[in-house]
Amino acid sequence: MRVVRKAVCPGSFDPVTNGHIDIVSRASVLFDEVVVAVGLNQSKSRARLFTPQERMEMLEKACAPFPNVTVAGFDGLLTSFCQEHGIHAIVKGLRAVSDFDYELQMAQMNSSLADVETVFIPTSPENSFLASSLVKEVATFGGDVSGLVPHDVLTRLTQRLAERAAEGEERRS
Ligand code: PNS
Repeated sequence: MRVVRKAVCPGSFDPVTNGHIDIVSRASVLFDEVVVAVGLNQSKSRARLFTPQERMEMLEKACAPFPNVTVAGFDGLLTSFCQEHGIHAIVKGLRAVSDFDYELQMAQMNSSLADVETVFIPTSPENSFLASSLVKEVATFGGDVSGLVPHDVLTRLTQRLAERAAEGEERRS
């Protein structure tokens, strides 16, 4: 019987960037099925710009060209999600050495919790500086991020930041 090789690409994706899509597309070549899993855990320290639903919609659109890629949300531990879906590989993009310490710690913790291996894919050099948090910051101050995110994300980002700016103005007046 042929074994179906499944992998998960987990993240917050607030919002998805071209760097994420690069990793997902390369994972889709290595694995038969790839699930892009959006972490829905509430984070007090990092306020999200987009709701889980919005983040998943943007991902679904961006991943549409890859027929073996699906999008899901998950709450709780990533390893529980893997166990529920028969997934034994977690794919993570590595941008720089600075990513490695924390990613290694998570990989080792995850493999201690469940039968999962973490597979690191080096980020393409043109995306090595790319992070959702930086995209949001640059866009907030009017910088051009059009080459860094899918077109649909750019539209939603521009709109959401304008809404947030208007809310801020209203609070101040
Ligand atoms: O895009 P991010 O914010 O780097 O993604 C982090 C994410 C969602 C992959 C990570 O926080 C995660 O796996 N959260 C689920 C909770 C969990 O399993 N924690 C233990 C990690 S060892």
